[in-house]
Amino acid sequence: MNNQELRELVNPVFNTAKSCVQLNAAAGDQDAQRLLDALGFPPFGAQMSKKPVPKELHEQVKKLFPAYTILIETRFQAMNRLIEHRKDRQIVDLPCGYTSRGIRLSRQGRAYYGCDLPAVIDAMVPAVESIIGKSESITYHAVDATNYGSLENALPENSRNLLVTTEGLLMYFVQSELEEVFSNIHRLLQKHGGSWVITDRAYFLHDKEVVAATLNNNPTLTAMYAAVTNRAAATTADVKFNDSVFFDPDEEKVREFIRKMGFDLHEICMADYLPDPIASLKGTPGAELAVRDVFQKMMFWELTVAEDTAAKPVDINLPFQAVSELKGGVFHVSIQGRMDTITAPELLRQFQNAGGEIKAIHVDVSRMVYVSSAGLRVLLMMYKSLENKDCFEMTGVNNEVREILETTGFDEFLLKK
Ligand SMILES: C[S@@+](CC[C@H](N)C(=O)[O-])C[C@H]1O[C@@H](n2cnc3c(N)ncnc32)[C@H](O)[C@@H]1O
Repeated sequence: MNNQELRELVNPVFNTAKSCVQLNAAAGDQDAQRLLDALGFPPFGAQMSKKPVPKELHEQVKKLFPAYTILIETRFQAMNRLIEHRKDRQIVDLPCGYTSRGIRLSRQGRAYYGCDLPAVIDAMVPAVESIIGKSESITYHAVDATNYGSLENALPENSRNLLVTTEGLLMYFVQSELEEVFSNIHRLLQKHGGSWVITDRAYFLHDKEVVAATLNNNPTLTAMYAAVTNRAAATTADVKFNDSVFFDPDEEKVREFIRKMGFDLHEICMADYLPDPIASLKGTPGAELAVRDVFQKMMFWELTVAEDTAAKPVDINLPFQAVSELKGGVFHVSIQGRMDTITAPELLRQFQNAGGEIKAIHVDVSRMVYVSSAGLRVLLMMYKSLENKDCFEMTGVNNEVREILETTGFDEFLLKK
């Protein structure tokens, strides 16, 4: 198995970024189209269904297209306009996905740090370079947002006044990961100054209204959109969405969490930053007013470090290591450091290359300081590979790891009662 295949198994969530660039291109963003070509991705819709759509449905499906493009177009373009409005900031785009933002900002002479999982960055670097050439101010960095060291490495020591932009990220995290990400960004902003702007909750709360308005409240089309979208979301990434307090319907709980993590919250109305015209609405001009109306309720959440907050102490910085051997049918492995999207493929590689029949597994995690869902996914794959599930043993589980296992429900499989 090559690196990319291992990464896909460990954290398939990076695939969600493909449809975003496809949709931005479909909405007419020319930089996105250039990037799509450079990345070698097909246009949106080309892979929607393996079976040809029946003729009578074809016209209906075409009417759904604006509902797909509008969510991505508005999110991406409104953030672009906000960034352009704040001329002095250095942009840390987390996650940058395959968006064309770096290409756009290169024309404005802005500093841009595109940050995403290694699988995305490996493809983005040559693709963007083929369009704008080598650039010192537009750079891309492989990170895992739950891993502070990877974020710190992305930024020069002397960078000041960051604008961290987040679109389409927080929904993939369970609570323990969310807390890591919040304390990492808090630490970054304490060090470099600036603020963090997020769109994820606004779309969680109002995406269905945007879609309904785009489809002129046509009930058949809206229902069709919901059915197709739920199916696609479930197959793209095998993670639960919106599974943390950030997406609790009770806003007071979210605000309390944000305060607890040491941030002040400031809201910015997204309607003021919408593109004009909204390209996705070209075929349905009657919808424009209703759509803009929904955006009056949608807010960018801007977070800044609250005064008097101390940063969470960083985990003891043990580098990741997995030391394994297969002896008498037992795969023993001792894990040290953080097991996340960046490091977990190494454990999977060792497990797959163990070179013999594996009848039992022993994982020593006494020196593992943190495990993200990517790490848990690998442990689960190992567990599932055993014929006799009682032959999986994990030892040295510290309190932090135990808490992660318990809150994600993985303790049921991985810990012996
Ligand atoms: C829905 S896409 C959005 C990307 C981009 N903002 C856009 O609008 O096209 C989600 C992105 O989050 C990235 N991602 C998921 N988990 C991550 C993590 N732990 N650290 C950094 N990026 C992550 C994925 O690789 C993917 O590119």
